[in-house]
Amino acid sequence: SDQSAFDTDVWTLTRFVMETGRQAKGATGELTQLINAMLTAIKAISSAVRKAGLAHLQGMAGSVNVTGDDVKKLDVLSNALVINMLQASYSTCCMVSEENKELIVTPRDKRGKYVVCFDPLDGSSNIDCLASIGTIFAIYKRTTEGEPTDQDALQPGTNIVCAGYALYGSATLVALSTGAGLNFFMLDPAIGEFILTERNVRMKPKGKIYSLNEGYAKYFHCSINEYLKSKKYPEDGSAPYGARYVGSMVSDIHRTIAYGGIFMYPANEKSPKGKLRLLYECNPIAFLVEQAGGSATTGTQRVLDVQPEALHQRVPFVVGSTDDVDEYLSFVKRFP
Ligand code: AHM
Ligand code: MG
Repeated sequence: SDQSAFDTDVWTLTRFVMETGRQAKGATGELTQLINAMLTAIKAISSAVRKAGLAHLQGMAGSVNVTGDDVKKLDVLSNALVINMLQASYSTCCMVSEENKELIVTPRDKRGKYVVCFDPLDGSSNIDCLASIGTIFAIYKRTTEGEPTDQDALQPGTNIVCAGYALYGSATLVALSTGAGLNFFMLDPAIGEFILTERNVRMKPKGKIYSLNEGYAKYFHCSINEYLKSKKYPEDGSAPYGARYVGSMVSDIHRTIAYGGIFMYPANEKSPKGKLRLLYECNPIAFLVEQAGGSATTGTQRVLDVQPEALHQRVPFVVGSTDDVDEYLSFVKRFP
């Protein structure tokens, strides 16, 4: 019958998170609450992104809509959603957002033990052309007591308790890890739940695609250009790599995890530390990629080992299939 198409024992992301939470020793449910609040924000952002695509709200940002209310820019709206949902979960003490210069301190009566670093809507230059965009986050446990300070957020990526991204693509997907592998969930709009679609995702050790903004080649270090040359004109008789670059990191990273290969945002003469931010862009992605068996480096050290010094600091970022990242590192050695 028709009904047989329904999975009556479906693994939703909420169920998955509750189950993982119950298995953790000494768990209080606070992390489950936090992740659920993040998922609510993601669902609302997804809906806003889809609506914007439909109604061209993006072009109307700052103008007045039919009911006379101000239409908020998508990135401003996404930021407010994440902050409000997370604060309402009673599980955070402070947050770092790409949209806020300063540390966001949770009101005293709503505080919990977690620190969240996030980019509410990454790839915002892609909003107006309707290409995919995403949300990225990393969760840490606070290590101090008293009033929250920047220090609480300046933890190395190795301390991450949970990280994830949402991709607002042809479907809305969440990639999430609590340190026991990487899992993919798809939003089923009919029930408003994320459904587990891939458990324990593993990346290919080597891919066939390289991904970076090669338009900056003039400003790259020769190790990057020599590496790229070897991908385009292989000397060992192998086929050249394909090139793909959306310019929206979550899209480029999701493809790299799904198909294998390498994504790079290296330093260049104009941006000596690259462009991407350590706390809420590179660290969560590095954590997720490592959970899937891949690697992430700044070119001189493992990304997750970097001791952060500032909330919005940038690092050069090279991430992907382990053999590809290792091959890039061999060029760093050969062309110092
Ligand atoms: P944003 O946080 O202002 O959206 O910038 C981050 C984005 C990433 O998604 C993407 O990887 C990168 O910027 C692209 O930068 P570029 O246009 O220099 O290639
Ligand atoms: Mg960003």
